[in-house]
Amino acid sequence: MAPVLEVKDIHKSFGGIVAVDGVSFSVDEGEIVGIIGPNGSGKSTLFNCVLGQLQPTSGEIRVDGKVTTGMRPCDLNALGVSRTFQLLQVFPELTVKDNLIAAGQEHRGSMLSRLFGPPDAGLGAAADRMIEFFRLSHVAGERAGRLSYGQQKLLDAAMAFMGGPRLVLLDEPAGGVNLTMLADLRERLRAINREMRATFVVIEHNMDFVMSLCTRVLVLAEGRIIAEGDPASIRNNPKVVEAYLGP
Ligand SMILES: Nc1ncnc2c1ncn2[C@@H]1O[C@H](COP(=O)(O)OP(=O)(O)OP(=O)(O)O)[C@@H](O)[C@H]1O
Ligand SMILES: [Mg+2]
Repeated sequence: MAPVLEVKDIHKSFGGIVAVDGVSFSVDEGEIVGIIGPNGSGKSTLFNCVLGQLQPTSGEIRVDGKVTTGMRPCDLNALGVSRTFQLLQVFPELTVKDNLIAAGQEHRGSMLSRLFGPPDAGLGAAADRMIEFFRLSHVAGERAGRLSYGQQKLLDAAMAFMGGPRLVLLDEPAGGVNLTMLADLRERLRAINREMRATFVVIEHNMDFVMSLCTRVLVLAEGRIIAEGDPASIRNNPKVVEAYLGP
């Protein structure tokens, strides 16, 4: 069986800045792969290339064996690829439930319509299921802007799962989230990975979170993968420590 995601020799430059400099890796079904690395090491740029938000300068991306390089984000959505954002992208004026429905509408034409049939049918019910799954029932009718930051991050994660995705890219899901909410988020992500058989790639600066959530970790520095392995081996890798501390 083909890996869910294959990234082959991706390069991305912005003018003279080389943000991603020949990155290759693949992710198998059900894996939770972490990507760590110092600020500016190219993590978000790599995600944006995979998601069709940016076109790589060169290289190839495949999802379930199908070449997706050059596809638009909506085409990738239709293949079951979803994301969360480094900076929150919830609609502050909409309720929690309406945010989820809006996210579901964005995925329409992909998994949901196959699962639930005609427009709107199923979106409210799917939103209710996500609300329950991410334990947001007590704030379901609140405007998202009134939620705590941690709750908004949970909502942002829940929105990524509205389409019943096959592959989810999470960009700093734990950023700014307090310890109690962190434990919740990790536990819910683990559960949804298991129950939905979704595959995750997670960018994160919070080492404890990465090390306890991920099955495998890649380390980026200056646009290249400098180390890859299970969490314990990455923790003890001198190259990784050096990349963070600088020359
Ligand atoms: N749209 C852009 N135009 C020009 N340069 C960019 C653009 N996006 C990113 N860069 C540059 O590319 C490099 C990689 O940035 P990127 O945002 O991918 O890093 P990152 O690893 O996600 O960092 P952080 O951990 O701070 O989120 C940086 O030097 C950044 O300034
Ligand atoms: Mg980033």
